[in-house]
Amino acid sequence: MGEIQKVGVVGLGAMGAGIAQLCVEAGVDTVGREVTAELGEKARDRIGHFLTRKVEKGQLDQSARDEAVGRLTLTTELEDFAGCGLVIEAIVEELEPKRELFAELDRICGPEAVLATNTSALSVTEIAAATTRPERIVGMHFFNPAPLMPLVEIVRAELTADEPFETAYAFGERIGKTPIRCHDTPGFVVNRVLIPLLNDCIRVLDEARVTPEDLDTGLKNGAGWPMGPCALVDLVGIDVHVHASEALYEKTREPRMAPPPRLVAMRNAGLLGRKSGRGFYSY
Ligand code: CAA
Repeated sequence: MGEIQKVGVVGLGAMGAGIAQLCVEAGVDTVGREVTAELGEKARDRIGHFLTRKVEKGQLDQSARDEAVGRLTLTTELEDFAGCGLVIEAIVEELEPKRELFAELDRICGPEAVLATNTSALSVTEIAAATTRPERIVGMHFFNPAPLMPLVEIVRAELTADEPFETAYAFGERIGKTPIRCHDTPGFVVNRVLIPLLNDCIRVLDEARVTPEDLDTGLKNGAGWPMGPCALVDLVGIDVHVHASEALYEKTREPRMAPPPRLVAMRNAGLLGRKSGRGFYSY
């Protein structure tokens, strides 16, 4: 299969908008789908804002910025993905909505299209099983914030064939990421390590009676982390982290995977981190 000419991104929340930003910056025509036109516009504004910051900092020409934003077409219709060689899904992190979406994409997209999920803790194989082309389904797992974090995990599901797998890998490189290849196991590579590690960090808050500020100072200055664990969970979203922990615990039954009660209580109280204005810190 030749180089991907047009890419689709389904769901333009923080992750989807970040992925769409990477695609348009790399010169790829991109169709972004949100459920309402207003949400689509919000995502385009977010992308425009971050690209404007690059112009202001001398990292990008104004004309290149405008061309990049111009490469993004917004839609609310999945039918508009018909001409895409690759579609990357970044919708709600729940299995059934993802399976329904992939069944629809399978119906709409050409037979050569590669369909990728950005799931962080669900099974790519189970999502692929909702389609008639499981050999063309892969995981492309980006990290938050997608435009800044270099890694993308290229995940091979049980039936993924070599060619679509390598197409996804090559596309990851083309948009400036550092891809790694792995198999479809709970949490893949990084979350398999990072989620229990962050859960341990949160448990230490109570065990060592350390404040979130001091814990973050500890990991930044004693372990070289770019940001502390409490700030990181706030960035990822406490709801997202709890949900991913629950999914991994369900699959592995390892106690360290289970979300610490403190995080569950914060999630239940609506303290979701940066996006809600309050988590361990106020924003
Ligand atoms: N999208 C696009 N651009 C963004 C952005 C975003 N979400 N956030 C920031 N930027 C841009 C901004 O324009 C910013 O510049 P200005 O502030 O001048 O406007 C520029 O990027 C640089 O931002 P920062 O100054 O905040 O960058 P930094 O050098 O402080 O690094 C960081 C920020 C990359 C987030 C760094 O702190 C870091 O590496 N933190 C760790 C993050 C991490 O571990 N992420 C993984 C989470 S786990 C996960 O994602 C897996 C999962 O499945 C849940």
